Amino acid sequence: MPQIEYRVRAQPDFPALGELRRAAWGESDDGGAWPAVLARSLTWVTAHDGKRLVGFVNVAWDGGAHAFLLDTTVHPEVGRRGIGTRLVRMAADAARAGGAHWLHVDFGPHLAAFYAGCGFRPTAAGLWRLR
Ligand SMILES: CC(C)(COP(=O)(O)OP(=O)(O)OC[C@H]1O[C@@H](n2cnc3c(N)ncnc32)[C@H](O)[C@@H]1OP(=O)(O)O)[C@@H](O)C(=O)NCCC(=O)NCCS
Repeated sequence: MPQIEYRVRAQPDFPALGELRRAAWGESDDGGAWPAVLARSLTWVTAHDGKRLVGFVNVAWDGGAHAFLLDTTVHPEVGRRGIGTRLVRMAADAARAGGAHWLHVDFGPHLAAFYAGCGFRPTAAGLWRLR
């Protein structure tokens, strides 16, 4: 496989981002919502295999100390090669450089080892299902 290229805060091809989301999450996504989402983001990181978008992570924030990791995504065809870990670590570096003091994430129990490997430590937190 060619070397993966990582880009910070570079505008992705939005239909390609929707396609990546469909492949990894199985959700319908035509990419159309992403320009407005990223306009509010502190930062984001993309991973590219040649011209193909194969990874993405978004960092939302409160405008101050707290940043929130969202939508960590790696195409299943290139999974378990360290791309997800690299995306998250680069997002943390970019969030720090952008002024954030804390990076939050939530995840299913099966991804505890993944996020621990990225650098997160467990903490008490709350999650409320609103819909
Ligand atoms: C979760 C995800 C981003 C991981 O990306 P990745 O590039 O495959 O991750 P890495 O190769 O960096 O994984 C590093 C380690 O994390 C753990 N890990 C990664 N994915 C895992 C999974 N799905 N289940 C259990 N452990 C996992 C493993 O310990 C792995 O090391 P190993 O391959 O040597 O066993 C990717 O599987 C994905 O996009 N999943 C679908 C969307 C999703 O659930 N996103 C997370 C939302 S919180």
